[in-house]
Amino acid sequence: MHEISMNNIWYVFCLMPLLCSLLKISALTYSITTSQSLNDGETIASEGGSFELGFFSPGSSSNRYLGIWYKNIPIRTVVWVANRQNPLKDLSGTLMINSTSSLVLSDRNNSVVWSTKPSNGGQDLILQLLDSGNLVLRDNRDGNTDVYLWQSFDYPSDTLLPGMKLGWDLRTGLSKGLSSWKNFDDPSPGTLSNGIELGDYPQVVMWKGSRKFFRGGPWNGLRFSGAPELRINPVFGFEFVSNQEEVYYMYQLKNKSVITRLLLNETTSSRQRYVWLEAEQSWKLYASVPRDYCDNYALCGANGICSISDSPVCKCLEGFKPKSAQSWNAIDWSQGCIRNEPLDCQRKHGFIKFSGLKLPDTTHSWINKSMNLKECRETCLKNCSCNAYTNSDISGRGSGCALWFGDLVDIRTFSDGGQDLYIRMPASNKDRPPARVVVIIVAAIAAICVVLLVSYCVCRRKTKLEGEIGDSITECPKEDMDLPIFNLATISHATDNFSVKKKLGEGGFGPVYKGTLEDGQNIAVKKLSKSSGQGINEFKNEVKLIEKLQHRNLVKLLGCCIEGEEKILIYEYLLNGSLDSFVFDRTRGKLLDWPKRFNIICGVARGLLYLHQDSRLRIIHRDLKASNVLLDKELNPKISDFGMARTFGGDESGETTKRVVGTYGYMAPEYAFYGLFSVKSDVFSFGILLLEILSGKKNRGFDHPLSQNLIGYGWRLWTEGRPLELIDSLLEDTAIQPEMLRCIHIALLCVQQSPEDRPTMSSVVLMLNGESTLPQPKHPGFLIDLIPGETGPSSSKDPCSANYFSITSLEAR
Ligand SMILES: *[C@@H]1O[C@H](CO)[C@@H](O)[C@H](O)[C@H]1NC(C)=O
Ligand SMILES: *[C@@H]1O[C@H](CO)[C@@H](O)[C@H](O)[C@H]1NC(C)=O
Ligand SMILES: *[C@@H]1O[C@H](CO)[C@@H](O)[C@H](O)[C@H]1NC(C)=O
Ligand SMILES: *[C@@H]1O[C@H](CO)[C@@H](O)[C@H](O)[C@H]1NC(C)=O
Ligand SMILES: *[C@@H]1O[C@H](CO)[C@@H](O)[C@H](O)[C@H]1NC(C)=O
Ligand SMILES: *[C@@H]1O[C@H](CO)[C@@H](O)[C@H](O)[C@H]1NC(C)=O
Repeated sequence: MHEISMNNIWYVFCLMPLLCSLLKISALTYSITTSQSLNDGETIASEGGSFELGFFSPGSSSNRYLGIWYKNIPIRTVVWVANRQNPLKDLSGTLMINSTSSLVLSDRNNSVVWSTKPSNGGQDLILQLLDSGNLVLRDNRDGNTDVYLWQSFDYPSDTLLPGMKLGWDLRTGLSKGLSSWKNFDDPSPGTLSNGIELGDYPQVVMWKGSRKFFRGGPWNGLRFSGAPELRINPVFGFEFVSNQEEVYYMYQLKNKSVITRLLLNETTSSRQRYVWLEAEQSWKLYASVPRDYCDNYALCGANGICSISDSPVCKCLEGFKPKSAQSWNAIDWSQGCIRNEPLDCQRKHGFIKFSGLKLPDTTHSWINKSMNLKECRETCLKNCSCNAYTNSDISGRGSGCALWFGDLVDIRTFSDGGQDLYIRMPASNKDRPPARVVVIIVAAIAAICVVLLVSYCVCRRKTKLEGEIGDSITECPKEDMDLPIFNLATISHATDNFSVKKKLGEGGFGPVYKGTLEDGQNIAVKKLSKSSGQGINEFKNEVKLIEKLQHRNLVKLLGCCIEGEEKILIYEYLLNGSLDSFVFDRTRGKLLDWPKRFNIICGVARGLLYLHQDSRLRIIHRDLKASNVLLDKELNPKISDFGMARTFGGDESGETTKRVVGTYGYMAPEYAFYGLFSVKSDVFSFGILLLEILSGKKNRGFDHPLSQNLIGYGWRLWTEGRPLELIDSLLEDTAIQPEMLRCIHIALLCVQQSPEDRPTMSSVVLMLNGESTLPQPKHPGFLIDLIPGETGPSSSKDPCSANYFSITSLEAR
């Protein structure tokens, strides 16, 4: 009864328009209830003050829309619009909750401009804007505040906020997808949309009109198959849920003081992630898909495969040929590829394993989450139109079964984070060596070839199973001989049973011991932590790859040891230990005069260039830092721990290895935030290393009245025109100023905020040699400490890289 009398009083007030509007202006409104209304000019704020609901005109338009925007951001950033398609022409808009629990937006003539579905929600309802940006309608008497009659999060516009679900509510059949605004002035749906395509194996798809434009792919247990950069990171957590009731993707902030949003942008035809930079008062673009040419949906047609590093980018899958050779050669790949010879369903078939792929379109797929890979293969073999299979979930050791029927569409390769796919081939294919081998044979000396071919065939025959091709081409046992395998007893003996006294240090991937073999040779023994979750064969393959990388500025891998759970790598032992024990030490630092430091800088640059470019494999180190640069007895640098990120990174199962491989303080912003790594994130780490070698100070833990970290300090000195003050005082006697200046300049180029602005390692090497002119550096990344408490998984194990995390230009609100 009390409430009713209050309402009456309210009515009385509202009969006096002046008083009424004064009241509304003086106090912030947090909600409206049945019988109240929201007029143009009034707003509802969320209780924490993050968001605001009200009427606005977009861009240069004079139309009025009801929408939600960030309350604390001076650039009006609208995240949701109610009447997208039906603007109000004047300031007469009124929002109300009507008696059948609908939200109704009406104009001057009381005609409905926008409304929500009626329901019988009772008479005492409240419309509230939550601090997440969700506008919710609920029963005012309902204690359970999570039950909503209606919520704006169910009807996204062009923006996906943290906590919003992209996908489907299967109980109501409601699809929650994004659609871009037509343009800045018009929020009505544009051509671009993004959502989840349902099916046995649901996948994320971006459409342009009704045409598929980009496919994020199906969820593989860790991430979307087409989004290898979606990794565990310190900024946001993400999940994908697929059950009887719901299918959705959602991300949640780990620290609520970060403001970030995903936006579908019509102008650029892309989905972008923006982060608000408080210091610069601007939105920073952090990631965007599609990323490259190969992300164009089905660019290479059916059964084609796209590799961005190849030229041309499209190829037919092995065992397939262009459907029309003529148009294929004219770089029109749309007709795709067909089998070299049609599959004869009466004959036996096998599979060829392809690795590092984005899985094909799952429109004609089928999955069973409880089958293993072997059952999966058998199931695929039983149906002649099944063309491929693989694990539906690659976390841990892999589980579940996904099958593809018909053509395989939209496959691409990734340099890191791709998946395996087993593609059906007629059994006869095994007798024919793959095309690459043929080329080699033609080129090589005939006699050697014959020997090779014979051993190849003998070897392959061993893996033959009832006329089928083995699952993996690399199953040939002979290949294992390339790699020296040490047995555990030998290693254990060499290290005095992994004695603490022999411990050299603890890296991100496990402890390192010094060992001495029977013949007196010293070795460094890296005992890998058991959490990699990687199978023995995969591990061996990776180790073989690492072993092939040979360069005088890389630490040489001598062999490995695998017994039971134990995985151990054996490296050459370097007398002088790691660079950090010199550079950051006031006594040993004297041993490194400027010519030695410059030599070290150039050596590291060449080693990194080799990893990035000159080796047959493109390796991104991902954890370059002073403690990962070792010095031999002449103080020549050798990079260690390369390839490890590859070994571990590809296997981040949610439970076992929660790691963004890398060390905070050295990580590029886009990598620390989004796990987006590239050769340019290594360049960033190289820049930090350079600054550290020049200054003798650590980037993390750097303390100076002028700046919070070394980059900031260096940048400040640079802009103030006194860069040489950065140089370590120990170098005074041996200084060569032009060289030092050039190094500072290069370092600042390497740590620029935007990856595109940073030079490649090949330019860095040229710059170091003085063979290239240097552009002016732009603003560096990582200027303000944001999340001091956050630790990276690898850094948490590494006492040398303690809990420090600096992120630039991002600050608490
Ligand atoms: C409330 O609004 C909805 C949507 O416009 C409409 O269908 C319903 O009839 C309205 N209820 C009443 C009682 O006017
Ligand atoms: C309201 O109705 C009048 C007369 O029917 C019409 O001329 C006017 O355009 C309407 N206004 C709006 C905002 O719809
Ligand atoms: C779309 O992207 C472009 C380029 O990044 C940007 O300038 C523009 O502001 C974006 N559009 C919206 C609506 O944010
Ligand atoms: C999935 O595979 C398991 C094991 O083979 C089988 O028992 C189950 O019936 C299958 N489920 C479906 C839906 O086919
Ligand atoms: C093979 O699978 C396809 C797609 O699921 C199905 O339509 C077809 O009936 C199956 N054929 C046989 C022989 O099971
Ligand atoms: C989030 O970031 C702010 C600003 O740096 C910090 O003060 C706060 O402790 C962080 N919160 C958590 C839970 O890490």
